[in-house]
Amino acid sequence: MDMFVVRGGQPLQGRVAVSGAKNAALPIMAAALAADGPTTLYDVPDLVDVRTMTALLRTLGVAVDRVDNDALKLEVIDDRPAIAEYELVRRMRASVCVLGPLLGRRGRAAVSLPGGCNIGHRPIDLHLRGLEALGADIRIERGYVIAQARRLHGANLYLGGACGSTVTGTCNVMTAAVFAEGATTIEAAACEPEVEDLGRYLNGMGAQISGLGTPTLKIEGIDRLSGTTHRIIPDRIEAATLMIAAAITRGAVTLENVRADHMTAVIRKLEEIGVRFSRTTDGAIHVAGTGPLQPADCIALPYPAIPTDVQAQLTALLTQTEGISVVTDKVFPDRFMHVSEMARMGARVRREGQSAIIAGGEPLSGASVMASDLRASAALVLTALAAQGESVVRRIYHLDRGYEQFEERLRALGADIERVVDTPANVPASLNPLTAATPDSEAA
Ligand code: EPU
Repeated sequence: MDMFVVRGGQPLQGRVAVSGAKNAALPIMAAALAADGPTTLYDVPDLVDVRTMTALLRTLGVAVDRVDNDALKLEVIDDRPAIAEYELVRRMRASVCVLGPLLGRRGRAAVSLPGGCNIGHRPIDLHLRGLEALGADIRIERGYVIAQARRLHGANLYLGGACGSTVTGTCNVMTAAVFAEGATTIEAAACEPEVEDLGRYLNGMGAQISGLGTPTLKIEGIDRLSGTTHRIIPDRIEAATLMIAAAITRGAVTLENVRADHMTAVIRKLEEIGVRFSRTTDGAIHVAGTGPLQPADCIALPYPAIPTDVQAQLTALLTQTEGISVVTDKVFPDRFMHVSEMARMGARVRREGQSAIIAGGEPLSGASVMASDLRASAALVLTALAAQGESVVRRIYHLDRGYEQFEERLRALGADIERVVDTPANVPASLNPLTAATPDSEAA
């Protein structure tokens, strides 16, 4: 297993390009199952989750090849009944995105239930409810969802749940409804740009979906989808992470390939905190965290509000702004495993219910910390970049699922971060309280 060794205190400077969005690429790759003909996708990031989806699609009869650094070609070569096995699905919850395309195109899907998750309870009841409304017969057997329908039919259905709509649930139901007989209306659909991107891909193949990006989707059923080419939207979560990296290190970074219109809530909140944004003449976004920063309250909610996937990174930043901040997550109210790790670096932060309460401005000192999920890992790296001295961030396999060459790109911006194998020998001596030099021992 790998870990990062980070030496904090360097303001980030320079220019970096944001990758294609993981959470758009995964459901779009899955939807290629529904096409009659080849799909070429551009700007697909090279990530562990993309490789897991590739492996899963191959077991379901799809030929998947990387044709260029950033392009994937996908084509169904065998559409016999197949099972999305637990072994692959348990590695990545987005595997559930194959359910709708398989059911819609092949009339049958057998997909393992994804199981537990570190960011809290993640049921798929809304996915199943939506597919049932389209006429699917659904059973859970031996840990698998078995969904079948001779022909799906259009329906008026509602996808809202206790914590808002569902992103991958909307992807599943929308893709299945493309093949339903007649018209479907999905109310309380997720409005996230990644869902819209999937809809644009499906429309590019001949689907008739309107209302994309709004909570009401209207879909006229058709019989088949042809192949197409599609460019994945820029990753708004990676862009936000890099913006916060610039701010937390009091640096200034220029980001290319950003859709600022997908990030209004994050950019407004960062401006409120004191981060300054400007457009460069070539359309990039310059982010400066060099001025004074203030505390702020943040609430993560479904799009277009602040995303839950940026909650941990904002928490990291607010540990460095003098005063009290409250960060609340209404989408995943238990997604706070990073809080106690940040406290190990000296941050004054505690969890209370669905919020982190932060008494910011405390200087941080490097420590050995453990990542619990993808975005928590990124937030711990950001915290380590702001801390004095050396830190170790363990279990970075979580981070590798969703950030492409993260440490190389941070290093190109001046960060002191390296990937090493997680062995005791690789832990810096400064993190051993028995051997570390203290100010007193240095003076002696
Ligand atoms: N929910 C239900 N029932 C369902 C589905 C969801 O109650 O059937 C609840 C969830 O428990 C949660 C809320 O609804 O409280 C929203 O969950 P959603 O289904 O929207 O999440 P998801 O589709 O499983 C996607 C992203 C996540 C991101 C969430 C929220 C992908 C592949 N994953 O997950 O991304 O946090 O939407 O925006 O798109 C990440 O990239 O780190 C990540 C976790």
